[in-house]
Amino acid sequence: MPTALTRATSPLLVDCELTHLKRDPIDIDKAEEQHREYEKALEKMGYSLRRLPETPHLADGVFVEDAAVVFPEVGIITRPGAESRRPETDTMATVLKEYRELRFIDAPGTIDGGDVLTLGKHVYIGDSQRTNRSAIQQFADILKPFGYTVTAIPVTKCLHLKTALTPLEDDLLLINPNWVDGDIFDDHQTETVHPDEPFGANLMRRGNYAICPKAFPKTAELLTQKGYDVITVNQSELAKAEAGLTCCSVIVG
Ligand code: GLY
Repeated sequence: MPTALTRATSPLLVDCELTHLKRDPIDIDKAEEQHREYEKALEKMGYSLRRLPETPHLADGVFVEDAAVVFPEVGIITRPGAESRRPETDTMATVLKEYRELRFIDAPGTIDGGDVLTLGKHVYIGDSQRTNRSAIQQFADILKPFGYTVTAIPVTKCLHLKTALTPLEDDLLLINPNWVDGDIFDDHQTETVHPDEPFGANLMRRGNYAICPKAFPKTAELLTQKGYDVITVNQSELAKAEAGLTCCSVIVG
């Protein structure tokens, strides 16, 4: 059974990094309750859950996706773009080394896992406020022996590449075309997210299950129409910290 690595929310989440959103008060207890609801949804999808060691001193520690990117052949420990987030990788490496041989991104490279989208043997990486060309080149060098190619994609209007799109199927992407140029993915079909729900493009799907935030009913309806069994979760508090669904777990297949 594949594992979903997660981490408890920090009491300091109210002081999280923000890039495109204004600061809104976060109810910490509610955030943790919603995070547990999300973890239950992951279990329903068939993932075995493993929580990383708690890091209460790290405001954004719950967003484990940014600390590592996992491939069948190797795990890459990132160097997050926000300096406050760099210590998050220590505990990720401690746990992930049980599952994969690890490689590490070195300075001056910076990269958040949320900028990395793997579609088969092709890896798309957002060239964003958090991720730079040095880290993208390091990713390409690490992955080349395993047969992967890497393409950099400019991301300026949202936090991460995966804020703007995620795969529904191997050849079908759910995308917000206002935040990323869909023409780059011309060998994939794309489904456009409803303009009222720009953050709806960040989804998780496994088998016939798809998780969708309660805040995006039009996206949930689209998924239902496509035949998915939709699990809705309330993510109102973590969304104020500029999080999407994928941010809160690392899947180790
Ligand atoms: N608050 C999530 C991030 O900015 O990385």
